[in-house]
Amino acid sequence: MRRPDDWHLHLRDGAALHAVLPFSAARFARAMVMPNLTPPLTTTEAALAYRRRILAALPSGVKFEPLMTLYLTDTTPAAEVERAQASGCVLGCKLYPAGATTHADAGVSDVRRIDAVLSRMAELGMVLQVHGEVTDPAVDVFDREASFIDAVLAPLAERHRQLRIVFEHITTRAAVDFVLSGRSGIAATVTAQHLLMNRNALFAGGLRPHHYCLPPLKAEVHRAALLSAVAGGNPRLFLGTDSAPHARHAKEAPRGCAGIFSAHAGIELYAEAFESAGALERLEAFASCHGADFYGLPRNSATLTLVKEPWEVPERYPFGADELVPLRAGERIAWRLARPSAAQ
Ligand code: DOR
Ligand code: ZN
Repeated sequence: MRRPDDWHLHLRDGAALHAVLPFSAARFARAMVMPNLTPPLTTTEAALAYRRRILAALPSGVKFEPLMTLYLTDTTPAAEVERAQASGCVLGCKLYPAGATTHADAGVSDVRRIDAVLSRMAELGMVLQVHGEVTDPAVDVFDREASFIDAVLAPLAERHRQLRIVFEHITTRAAVDFVLSGRSGIAATVTAQHLLMNRNALFAGGLRPHHYCLPPLKAEVHRAALLSAVAGGNPRLFLGTDSAPHARHAKEAPRGCAGIFSAHAGIELYAEAFESAGALERLEAFASCHGADFYGLPRNSATLTLVKEPWEVPERYPFGADELVPLRAGERIAWRLARPSAAQ
């Protein structure tokens, strides 16, 4: 297949970055790197410095292009978005509703506060990437995405009709309907975990912290809607792993962190999902074409080869001084990468 890109990825920093980056770089030519570090990447300068650290952490001889994002806050000035756009390396601005997820405390408390910034983004053609969950604790956790569409995203998309929007890691039938039937300029990323698992996986055989991410896994009807939408080949849907590594002890804790690490099988897991839907021939466009087209970037010309040959995922990977539990730890994945010589 044409070499894929990951349109939603968490790489972290320091030793964690060094531990996880090789997995993504072995599979994807480019990745849209999320800005929720501590402190968050709220300036172009910080995003560019992080980009340099990512490039410096690449194994020698490995080519991989990090595409950067800016973290929006209540006080992001429009001039910062202009600087980001002018840098040529920052391709989007991420909207985290304040408190919605990991390291989202500095996010936006009310989107109306950033209307002027959104207007400028629309004029510049800068993409808005949205974590789509309301934060009202009174709203059921499994309803927060659907609620966000009605309360925030649909009105925002109407107020800013020229703004290009990626609804990140969609998880519900409501989100599929919103994206597929919406105005032009709206697209979405879909993770492998939301195509492969429903919320039963959170409780299968006991409480499963390594299946906990945000937005959380949803009921089967939603998983089925997502899978049939991507299998249908709609160009508004593209690959975004949302691979989000956390140290094992931070996941296996009384208040375990949200985030599933999937970069070790970042394309292989999607191959399983598409195969299960009888739509393997649609994998390439989803993984390697739709996202590049949406962001106005060239499609990759290199290729990658997947082989249908099951392999056992390790129980843990090293993660700096810690360890990391990958998705499917100790279990099998049906597809693997061809050895590098065959993939060239
Ligand atoms: O599960 C998640 N983990 N969802 C997010 O939105 C953030 C991510 C992280 O950074 O750990
Ligand atoms: Zn994410």
